[in-house]
Amino acid sequence: MTTPTPTPSAEPLILALFGPPGSGKGTQAHLLVEEFGFAHLATGDLLRLEIRDKTPLGLQAEAVMKSGGLVSDDLVQRMLSEHMLRALESRRGILLDGFPRTAAQFEFLERFLGEHGHRLDAVFNLEVTMEVLITRLTGRRLCRVCGRVYHVVNMPAKVEGRCDDDSGELYQRADDTRESIEKRMEVYESQTRPVLEAFQQRQVLLGIPANEEARIVHPRLAVQIRRLLARATTVGQ
Ligand code: AP5
Repeated sequence: MTTPTPTPSAEPLILALFGPPGSGKGTQAHLLVEEFGFAHLATGDLLRLEIRDKTPLGLQAEAVMKSGGLVSDDLVQRMLSEHMLRALESRRGILLDGFPRTAAQFEFLERFLGEHGHRLDAVFNLEVTMEVLITRLTGRRLCRVCGRVYHVVNMPAKVEGRCDDDSGELYQRADDTRESIEKRMEVYESQTRPVLEAFQQRQVLLGIPANEEARIVHPRLAVQIRRLLARATTVGQ
């Protein structure tokens, strides 16, 4: 299948993947970036890099992330602003992952994009049942080198414990413990899920059934993105 490439006059799309922990945001983002070439901005990944590099921001975020709580809006927004500016300049389009996840973050995003002459085009809500989420999170493994996401049963690496792409060591995230997963689910229900209503009001929300295998979920997203790209291209002409 050929992928429509936006013409230079098309406005770059600004999209967000939304959903509870384990709904497959990172997995789908990886596939969409491969297909559409978006700049992928995942706040969880960016925070983990800050922790790895022991930056002041990483040191502030580490304990709260490990426990399953949310890092403060202020820290996350400051961290993301720089990345967003660079991504907007590149005009490749942006795929947000794990942001916004509070009402304040959504307000910030709208304001930030507005100030730079953009707006949020769509939010894809990955809909997954609780039972499936727990199985996915407890079996998740990540590559220490490139961050690629695996699952011990659903998406195993070809060689156990090693990444298919670069043979990097696979590890389990510090917050993929039962205790932390339970806390993350609670936080999702109380602080993140309510933001869906605001997306709905702005008419940017699209529900994507996402209980099935990743290769079945991916085309559901891709078809919506092709529609949005076609619309952006027409508007840009
Ligand atoms: P973050 O890294 O964003 O974690 P999360 O939202 O809890 O989401 P996950 O990464 O756990 O899941 P995912 O939806 O990406 O699923 P994945 O594709 O990996 O955030 C971590 C922490 O950082 C937060 O708790 C918070 O402290 C902080 N933080 C981040 N952003 C913040 C913000 N904006 N504000 C404040 N704090 C913030 O898949 C999971 C597993 O399932 C994998 O093993 C995968 O192989 C498997 N899988 C995926 N899809 C499928 C499928 N379709 N079928 C079968 N298996 C699948």
